[in-house]
Amino acid sequence: MNTFQKSIIKICLGLLGLVFFTPQINAQTKLTLDLTKPGANVSPMLYGLMTEEINHSYDGGLYAELIRNRIFKDNPTTPEGWSLVRQDSGSKAAIKLIAATQDNVPFDERRHAINGALQTCLRLTVEKADGRVGIANEGYWGIPVKPSTTYKASFYIKGTGSFQPPRRPGAQQPAQPAGPVIDDNTAGPITVTIESNDGKTVYASGTINLAKSIFWKKHELTLTTAANVKPTTDARFVISTNRTGLYYFNLISLFPPTYKDRLNGNRPDLMKMMVDMKPKFLRFPGGNFLEGPLITDAFPWKETLGPIDNRPGHRGSWGYRPTDGMGLLEFLLWCEDIGAEPVLGVYAGYSLNGDHIDAGPLLKPYVDDALNEIEYVMGDVKTYWGAKRAADGHPAPFKLKYVEIGNEDWFDRTGSYDGRFNQFRTAIETKYPQLVCISTIADAQFPNLKVTTGKKPAVLDEHYYRNSWAMWENASQYDTYDRKGPKIFVGEWATREGVPTTNLNAALGDAAWMTGMERNSDIVIMSCYAPLFVNVNTATATAPKAWQWDSDLIGYNALSSYGSPSYFVQKLFSYYLGNKIVPVTAENVPTQNRPLTRRDSSENITPKPIPTIFYAATKDQKAGDIYLKIVNTTGKQEPVEISLKGVTKILPEATLVVIKGDKPEDTNTITDPEKIVPVTSKINGVAPVFTRTLDPYSVTILQLQTGNR
Ligand code: AHR
Repeated sequence: MNTFQKSIIKICLGLLGLVFFTPQINAQTKLTLDLTKPGANVSPMLYGLMTEEINHSYDGGLYAELIRNRIFKDNPTTPEGWSLVRQDSGSKAAIKLIAATQDNVPFDERRHAINGALQTCLRLTVEKADGRVGIANEGYWGIPVKPSTTYKASFYIKGTGSFQPPRRPGAQQPAQPAGPVIDDNTAGPITVTIESNDGKTVYASGTINLAKSIFWKKHELTLTTAANVKPTTDARFVISTNRTGLYYFNLISLFPPTYKDRLNGNRPDLMKMMVDMKPKFLRFPGGNFLEGPLITDAFPWKETLGPIDNRPGHRGSWGYRPTDGMGLLEFLLWCEDIGAEPVLGVYAGYSLNGDHIDAGPLLKPYVDDALNEIEYVMGDVKTYWGAKRAADGHPAPFKLKYVEIGNEDWFDRTGSYDGRFNQFRTAIETKYPQLVCISTIADAQFPNLKVTTGKKPAVLDEHYYRNSWAMWENASQYDTYDRKGPKIFVGEWATREGVPTTNLNAALGDAAWMTGMERNSDIVIMSCYAPLFVNVNTATATAPKAWQWDSDLIGYNALSSYGSPSYFVQKLFSYYLGNKIVPVTAENVPTQNRPLTRRDSSENITPKPIPTIFYAATKDQKAGDIYLKIVNTTGKQEPVEISLKGVTKILPEATLVVIKGDKPEDTNTITDPEKIVPVTSKINGVAPVFTRTLDPYSVTILQLQTGNR
C-alpha cells in the first residue's frame, strides 16, 4: 500500500469515527407547567408515617425506657441485659431468674409474682459482702449519659434471708434452700447509680431505704448528672447494697426526659424529627407486628393499656420481646404529639406462619375485639372502652377515619381474606358508618386474591420494596390507574439500598417514586415509607445486632439520631406541597437502560428505556406558590428549561432546596450524620420561561412565587 492509499484509508476511518463516535447532542429537556386551569386536588393525607416494633423501633428506640429486659421475660433461662456487680472479689454473690409461672420450680420460688404481668423477678443472693454488690443493666446498647439531665428511676424490691419462717397451718411450707444460711441484713440503704461500664466513674447516684418486709414495694427516685459530664453510651445502671441477704427485683425502669415530659413517653430527638416531616397520619401497629408469628401473638392491644406494671409484653414478630411500653394509648398520644391522624391496623385473623381463622362464628370474637379497640380510640366516654380511655387519662376521643383490616393478607393464599375482610368491614361500617376500611390486598398487585364479596373496598393498600432501578422504571405507574377505581394507600414502600439506613441512590429512587404518587394524588390518597426507624448498633459480646431490616429511614443509637438521605426527601416532599396538582408535560427527557435482571433473561424481556429525570408540581392556591420537584438520577449536570404556561405574574426570586451528593453510594451515618443534607438558598431570574441546571445525583425543589401572598 502506497502513502496515498494509506492517507485515503485514514481519511475514511476518520469520517467513520465522526459518524460513530460523535457524541449525540441532546435537545434540551423542557418541562411545561400548565397553569391555565387548576388541576385535581392533592390529597390532604398524602404523606404520613408507618410504624411497628422492628429494628428496636420502640424498645431501644423511640420509647424512652433505658432498661433492657426490665421485667426479666426476654429470655426464660438467663437474665439478658443484666450482670452481677462485685466491687471486691472477696464478695460471694449470684443472680438468678425466679419465674413464678414455671411449675417445675420450688413452691417458694413461685410466690414472688407481683401480679399477672410481673411474674419473673431477679434474685440477687449476697452470701458475703466485701464492699458493694449489685445488679447492673447494660441498657439498649448502653445507657445514654448526658450533662445536666435528670433521670427517673423506679423498681420493685424486697429482701429476705435464706431461712423462711413456717407458714400458716395447712399452707404449703417453704423448702429451705440447700447451702449456707444467709442472714437477712437487707434492710437499709440501697444505692442506685448511672456509672461507667468499668464502675470507675459515677455519673449520677441516689439511694432508697429498703425496709424489713416480706412484701414487694415500689421505689422511685431521680438521678441527675452534672453539667460537666461528657455524653457517652459507655455506661450502665446499677442497684447495689453492701449487706448480705436475698434481694428480689422486678420492673426496673429508668427514663430520661421525654418529649413534652410525658410519663412513659418518647425520645425528644426522634419526635422532633417526625414533627419536622409534617406527617398527616401514622399507620400502626404494623406491619408484621400487628399479626405476630402465630394467631396467639397478634398485637395484644388490651394488655398494652394502663400502668406499665400491668403490661406483660408479648412475643413480637422480629425476634425480640416487646415490652409493650409503647401501647395503644401511647401510639395515639404519639399521633397527637406530631399532629398526625391514626390509621389503625386491626388484627384480621391471619398470622405470619400462615394460619388463619375462617370468616364466620370463629372469627366473630376477633371482629368484636376490633370493634372494642375502635371504641377505645374514638368512643364517647359513656361507652365501655371510651370510659377506659378516659380512666387512662384521655377523655377526648381521638379522630379516626381509616381502619386497615390486617396486613399483607396476600400472603394468605387460601383466599380467606375475601370473607374475613367482608365480615370485619360489615361490622365496622355498621357500627361506625363514618369509618373507611382499607383492604390489604390491592387489585393491581394481586388480581387473583382481591376482595370481591360485598361492595368494592374504597381504599386498597399497596406495598413496594424495590431497588432504585425498579422505582425509576415504575415511577409513572399511577398515571394510568382507573380514576373511577378504589383509592390507593401506598402503606409500605421504600427503595432498599444502603445499610442500615438508605443511601443517596435510594433517596433518588424514593424521590422519583414520590413524584409519581404526588402528581397522581387524586388517586394515591395516602403513602408512608417503611421501616421508619432503626437502631444502628451492631452485635456486641452480650447483645445481638439491633436491626432486622436493612435500608431504613431514621437511624440512632442510645445517644443520638440522624436522618438518611431518604428522610430528607420525605421531609421536603411533605413540607413543600401545594393543594392542587399542576399538570406537567416534558420534552426531550434523556433516558437510560437498566441492567438486565435474571427475570429479563428467563422471560426474554427487553426493558424499556427509563427516564433519567422525574418531576411533579403542585400549587398552593391560597399563597399562589408553585412547588416544582425535579429529580436528576444521573452523574451529569442537566439544564432544564421550565415554562410556566399561562402564568400572569411570577416573582424573579424563588426558594431553591437541593439534596445532592458526589456519588450514589454517599450516605449519612451515626458518626457522619450530615454528609447529605438539603441546602436551601434563594435564586433570582425566575421568569415565565427560565432554565435551571440540575446538579448531578440531585433532588431539586423550587418554590416559585406567583405573588398572591
Ligand atoms: O416493613 C417491614 C415489613 O415488610 C413489614 O412488617 C411487613 O408488612 C412487610 O412485609
